Amino acid sequence: MANKYCVANWKMNFNSQQGKEFISSLNSKDLNNGQSQIILCPSFTSIFSIVDASKNSTVRIGAQNMHFENSGAFTGEVSANMLNELGVNFVILGHSERRHIFGESDKMIQSKMIQSIENGLIPILCIGEKLSDRESGNTKKVLRSQLEFGLENVSGEYIIAYEPVWAIGTGKSATSEMVAETHGVIRNILADLSIHDNVSLLYGGSVSPENASQLSAVQYVDGFLIGGASLDVEKFYNIYLDL
Ligand code: PGA
Repeated sequence: MANKYCVANWKMNFNSQQGKEFISSLNSKDLNNGQSQIILCPSFTSIFSIVDASKNSTVRIGAQNMHFENSGAFTGEVSANMLNELGVNFVILGHSERRHIFGESDKMIQSKMIQSIENGLIPILCIGEKLSDRESGNTKKVLRSQLEFGLENVSGEYIIAYEPVWAIGTGKSATSEMVAETHGVIRNILADLSIHDNVSLLYGGSVSPENASQLSAVQYVDGFLIGGASLDVEKFYNIYLDL
């Protein structure tokens, strides 16, 4: 059986103080109630203090990105090894904002996948189609190509997050039917690629307390990657309880 995850992607929000306030109110709640592993992904500058603040809790920490080399002349970048040293366990890779705003290629993402695993991190590989892909009937093709490239020569533990680009930050989540269909498509692609079926498959894109229970009931939904709603501890906790 795949593990379940409830992942907060704080993006470029929350400084250390705000992150610590979030975690202290989250820690005051019963975190043994839900069935999923909570992962908080703060910005690089907050990681140190958020790891510290989560020391005595079941919450785990992820980064939102990393570089594909372990060291060298890459001004402004952060490596997997540096993250691991801080106590980070997970890293989001290939988020659509990285792909589309910062021009990350499948090749870069694949190198990051390998580098992260070699450094003891569990990567969360994000894939998803744009609205134009869906409207032109290319969803399956896009997802297959992102998975084939992203997972080439990758072995070890990883998580996959399906995040349709048009659903991210728009308040317009995919419907349960769409998620059921697309997660089924992804499972078939993974089977074609001989990838074992206990890889966790998350959904992300406007997940909220209003749609979480419906979406979590969908087959092959092993958790959520949550942006906007993860900035509000009550909303995030309610989503966690629905998983
Ligand atoms: P959202 O973001 O929940 O605000 O749509 C999800 C994500 O970008 O991971």
